[in-house]
Amino acid sequence: MVKKVTPKNNSAKSGLIKTEEDKINKRGRRSTREIVTVTGMRDILPQDQRYWHAVKKVAEKIAADYGYGLIDTPVLEPVDLFVRGVGKQTEVVEKEMFAFKDQAGDELALRPEATASVVRAYVQHGMLNQSQPVKFFYQGPMFRHEKPQSGRHRQFFQFGFEAIGEANPALDAQLILMGWNSLNELGIESVIQVNSIGCPNCRDNYRKELVKYYRSKSKLLCENCRKRLTTNPLRILDCKEEECQKLKDESPQVLDYLDDDCKKHFMKVIEYLDELDLPYVLNPFIVRGLDYYTKTIFEYWSTDDQEGKNALGGGGRYDGLVKLLGGREETPACGLAMGLDRIVAKMREIDLEIKDEFQPDVFIAQIGEAAKKKVMVLYEKLRQCEDFRVAQAFYKDSLKNQLDLANKLKVKLTLILGQKEFGDGTILIRDMEGGIQEEINFSRAEQEIRKRLLKYKENGANVPPETNKLKIDNN
Ligand code: HAM
Repeated sequence: MVKKVTPKNNSAKSGLIKTEEDKINKRGRRSTREIVTVTGMRDILPQDQRYWHAVKKVAEKIAADYGYGLIDTPVLEPVDLFVRGVGKQTEVVEKEMFAFKDQAGDELALRPEATASVVRAYVQHGMLNQSQPVKFFYQGPMFRHEKPQSGRHRQFFQFGFEAIGEANPALDAQLILMGWNSLNELGIESVIQVNSIGCPNCRDNYRKELVKYYRSKSKLLCENCRKRLTTNPLRILDCKEEECQKLKDESPQVLDYLDDDCKKHFMKVIEYLDELDLPYVLNPFIVRGLDYYTKTIFEYWSTDDQEGKNALGGGGRYDGLVKLLGGREETPACGLAMGLDRIVAKMREIDLEIKDEFQPDVFIAQIGEAAKKKVMVLYEKLRQCEDFRVAQAFYKDSLKNQLDLANKLKVKLTLILGQKEFGDGTILIRDMEGGIQEEINFSRAEQEIRKRLLKYKENGANVPPETNKLKIDNN
């Protein structure tokens, strides 16, 4: 059953919306209790954004390279989309979906994943009439009511690629490559775990054999897996409990139950992966937690994650989903999604150095009202320059405070306009590393910045540009 939370229960429990009683405490005063994030959800603060930005940039580049067009779908969808698309008996839908009735009584859910939404959009906008496959790229937040722990959040971010309308195994291999490339281009080493669960026919036969095997061992299974024997037996294979792990080695393997067509498809995918020289492992025990998969399925595990406890991404083929969600015809499709939260955590764990793209090169400081007005105008011109980035703090009057900030921002150069320079039509340009500064013509500020930054680049950051070695004090 889908766990439903009525708006009333939801607000009282989550701390998101307070009822009038909550807001007014016992003495009749408004509560001043601090309001914090909902359990399992978090803020991503400005100082951490460079990691997220780096991942999104790589994702965007891969999407552009392989011709996937951006799609944004709503975070709220009809509950039925996931019940039908992802599967009523899957953990994602049965236990983890944030589902509720809205004011109009409509049953809605915060999307737990985006594949079903993309397929809905494909059907809803009649994209079957476009040239196939239609290739989509997305990124954004997903929501699953999981037990919060490292690598598991209730709001987490994915980027993904979906290609709808193509059955050729070259597409599966290319998607597998795209996910691997995105990790590789970020500097994360991963191994692809690949398997095939065949078409519904192969799977039915396999499921029967699996149930037969596990029935005979049911006493040794964990409580959850004993239930899975009737609800979702394939999931027993990727149960992380020790007792269930031990049993899987002897269990029947899905590849032995593939029919000729599914086997041929899978062999082709593997052939392409070999040709592309990708690091993969044939893993008969990955089954994926979503019901829509057919044939190829895969996951990305970082090289030090032997059991796949924190897969960095995963995907597979889902040839039946378009029809299931109301499409006119059988429409083959394949896709994947990568987890940004886990990727960022891995980048930090392995100490990947990420350059801050918004790192300023130059700071503009001012002393006095007239100078402030003049550099405000100069800043508007310089901030348009694409080859360097400028920072300022025009709301501060003290030069010391401004230079402290310039130091903190680690800029290479600071321009300083004082009253004297204002009168002379000049401006000071200060090399922040050597603390040496020079007076230049105000109208030449842009060219001088460019010249000096270029020298920096050529000589290495430690060598200050040539100056006439004029020193000023900071106050
Ligand atoms: P998924 O394996 O459920 O697949 O999720 C993909 C990735 O999202 C996971 O490998 C993981 O990195 C991340 N992820 C999932 N749940 C959480 C969580 N609670 N906290 C943090 N990260 C998480 C799908 O969602 C499918 N829609 C993928 C797909 C696309 N298949 C075909 N097309």
